[in-house]
Amino acid sequence: MDLHSYFEHAVAAAAQACLPWIGKGDKVSADQAAVQAMRQVLNTAPMAGRIVIGEGERDKAPMLHIGEELGTGGPAIDMAVDPLEGTTLCAENRPGALCVLAYAPRGDLLHAPDIYMQKLCVGPGLSLCPSDMDLPLDALIARLSAQRAPAPLRVLMLDRPRHRAWIDQVRATGADLDLISDGDVMGCLQTVLSLGEAPPAYDLYVGIGGAPEGVLAASGVPHLGGTFLGRLHASTPDEHLRAQRLNITDLDQIYSSHDLAAPTATLVISGVTAHV
Ligand code: FBP
Repeated sequence: MDLHSYFEHAVAAAAQACLPWIGKGDKVSADQAAVQAMRQVLNTAPMAGRIVIGEGERDKAPMLHIGEELGTGGPAIDMAVDPLEGTTLCAENRPGALCVLAYAPRGDLLHAPDIYMQKLCVGPGLSLCPSDMDLPLDALIARLSAQRAPAPLRVLMLDRPRHRAWIDQVRATGADLDLISDGDVMGCLQTVLSLGEAPPAYDLYVGIGGAPEGVLAASGVPHLGGTFLGRLHASTPDEHLRAQRLNITDLDQIYSSHDLAAPTATLVISGVTAHV
């Protein structure tokens, strides 16, 4: 079996382990089942693997913690894992829960702190530049709409109180807006994933979600013709500290997908609950 197949097997095993927990209202047990199953497979892979984004720091996460080494020996590989992305989606049997990991040669994935990240993601045929992160959303939508005319732009966002002003702005432009309760890795991917002949369901994903999830999305989006931009978003002293501990001092930096995950990165996903 080649190395990539181990990663496929790892996400599939994690998804399989989640199945008994779908709709059971217990997101912690679902997550634990996924972590355990993913870890078991990764530990058999012929690599010198290292978790750079995982379940948390060693003292808080018994398995798949940041810095944990996995595998039976071989090429030096870094991994960003989210054994169950959208724990609540799984617990409540709502669409979009995934088992996901990204892997790359050592050093090719950003060690992102577990804080928030502001994200913009567009699909093929639409362009973004770093200054778009600070452009009022209605102006960005006007520009992207011109690239996509005559159909209205289809926008996706996490439904969070922190997004209230953006939600109002998008609606005022006449763009179509859908809100999701969780799962912004899939949110970003929905700008690039097409099913059969159908185009991707959305043109723009925008919002503030987890930075680890940003690295995962950035590992896949460019390979499917999309563009991802992110900027860390620290609001509390603890969040600033978490960034500092990873030697990140410039919180204004705007990351392209390749700053977060080099083109050598591969994203591997298995669905847990329905896609849409
Ligand atoms: P979990 O899998 O940890 O439950 O995360 C789900 C998620 O919706 C992510 O997709 C997203 O990046 C993050 O939570 C948003 O965080 P918050 O719920 O704090 O707004």
